[in-house]
Amino acid sequence: MAGIVPHASKIEEIYTHDAIPTQSPRWANLVSKFQSTYNMPAQFVARSPGRVNIIGEHIDYSLYPVLPMAITSDALFAVSVPSEQNTTSDTFKVRISNVQSERFTAKEFDIPYSGIEIDSKVHEWTNYFKCGLKGAIQLLRRGNPDFRPVSMDVCMDGSVPAGGGLSSSAAFVSGAALAVMVANGVEKVSKMDLTEIAIVAEREVGVNSGGMDQSASVLSVKDNALYVSFVPELSARPVKFPKTKPELKFLIAQSFVAADKHVTGPVCYNLRVVECSLAAAYLHAVVNKSSSPLPEDKGPLGISLYGFHKGHFGQETGRDMAAQLKQLVQIVKDTLTKEEGYTRAEVAEKLGMTVEQLEKRFESTFPVRAERFKLRQRALHVFTEALRVSKFIGLLEDPPAGYMDTGNSEEYNRALGDLMNATQASCRDLYECSCPELDRLCQIARKAGSYGSRLTGAGWGGCSVHLVPGDKVEDVKAAWEKDYYSKMDLTAEQKSGAVVVSKPGSGSYLLTLGEDGKP
Ligand code: ATP
Ligand code: GLA
Ligand code: MG
Repeated sequence: MAGIVPHASKIEEIYTHDAIPTQSPRWANLVSKFQSTYNMPAQFVARSPGRVNIIGEHIDYSLYPVLPMAITSDALFAVSVPSEQNTTSDTFKVRISNVQSERFTAKEFDIPYSGIEIDSKVHEWTNYFKCGLKGAIQLLRRGNPDFRPVSMDVCMDGSVPAGGGLSSSAAFVSGAALAVMVANGVEKVSKMDLTEIAIVAEREVGVNSGGMDQSASVLSVKDNALYVSFVPELSARPVKFPKTKPELKFLIAQSFVAADKHVTGPVCYNLRVVECSLAAAYLHAVVNKSSSPLPEDKGPLGISLYGFHKGHFGQETGRDMAAQLKQLVQIVKDTLTKEEGYTRAEVAEKLGMTVEQLEKRFESTFPVRAERFKLRQRALHVFTEALRVSKFIGLLEDPPAGYMDTGNSEEYNRALGDLMNATQASCRDLYECSCPELDRLCQIARKAGSYGSRLTGAGWGGCSVHLVPGDKVEDVKAAWEKDYYSKMDLTAEQKSGAVVVSKPGSGSYLLTLGEDGKP
């Protein structure tokens, strides 16, 4: 698949039919806001969506495959390149504004051609634009190191709830990078290049994330989920859900627990990345009995649990993925026996390094705070979750005959749901990335008829995803209202956006506007 980012001539090509009545006025508002802010029409709109992850949580940075899908909500960037460009200066100018101008104040930057500064200690919305800009410039300079980016005017409208677990940040960074590429004259933007630069660029804001969100945002195809693999290189294929009876729906429910990964990074997200990387290094040293370090790979800290997996099985890696993952689960149980976790000194000794060397190697880019690293629990989550993804994709792409040919796929639907429920249990107990509110949303939904319910995205708050038979959607919604949302103090806007039935949407798009700046 992959290819280039598609060009749409009208928004009907981008969204599913039911979304048009809300998207049309939104686009019209964006381009009119652009016109009134900069006193000229926008030339094009770059668009990238948020995502919901169906299964495969916290395993992308261990380089195991995941199964997200794009949602309708997205980040839009209306852009114009001013005809007068100051070519004598050492800087280029970016003016950026937001449709939600009170929440996200407009900014103007004079950016040196020599490099972009992003201060990850300051949590500032335009940092995400700078990430996209930085990534795009690196790409533009690949064949031409002296490339000078143009000045540009940008107005953004994001409809993915910020910080809600649906990856508004990846929509932002991928959309911004696309906008910069197009502003600089690249009309045919490679989807793979765009995804890869967005993955690396987003880390500049201070979260050592994997590659799932940007892949889903750029590469998704309408009406399909996306199976994303990270080795031997990034690749993705669209996956359709089989027709079932009862029909399956995905519900996304907000917990309204804010999960600020920037603030909690040192004890939550970034710490998990360190724990998984240390588990990989430890297992490699002890189980693979290797005196040399794990070979470098695309894990955010340069190594991954998949790297250990590959080192362990060598040529045989992936031959029978499920059997290998089961063996690895047993190896972890036998090797990483300390439930209470491992101190830096204990890990460093096994890796043949000092504590200072360990800190420098694993904790200097993204500092973390922990006395002990729970290597056993984190590695068990990763290998069992990778196994669940492999079973889930097997069910989707190769449904067992017996499940489907009776005209009632209840058993099949339950098999999918059970895997999602097992993910939630693992996220809660082994990976410790759930929270009581997410657990509660899942319990309520299951009781009201959901086959499978779990947190989605990073967790520690944010959103949950639920696989629900079509005829139970209203029951599940009513149960949440009665037992969860009615007990919270929510605004009307929060209430109306609390639950959505999500259809798999398309990935990034580009739409060139007419001379009048209208879609
Ligand atoms: P998750 O990563 O858990 O899936 P998320 O991506 O929405 O959820 P963050 O990674 O914390 O959450 O990114 C949210 C940040 O992205 C906001 O704090 C803001 O800086 C920026 N952002 C998102 N949407 C917008 C928007 N519409 N306008 C301006 N900035 C936005
Ligand atoms: C965040 C990250 C992703 C992924 C998920 C957890 O959304 O950005 O890369 O790790 O958390 O699955
Ligand atoms: Mg994010």
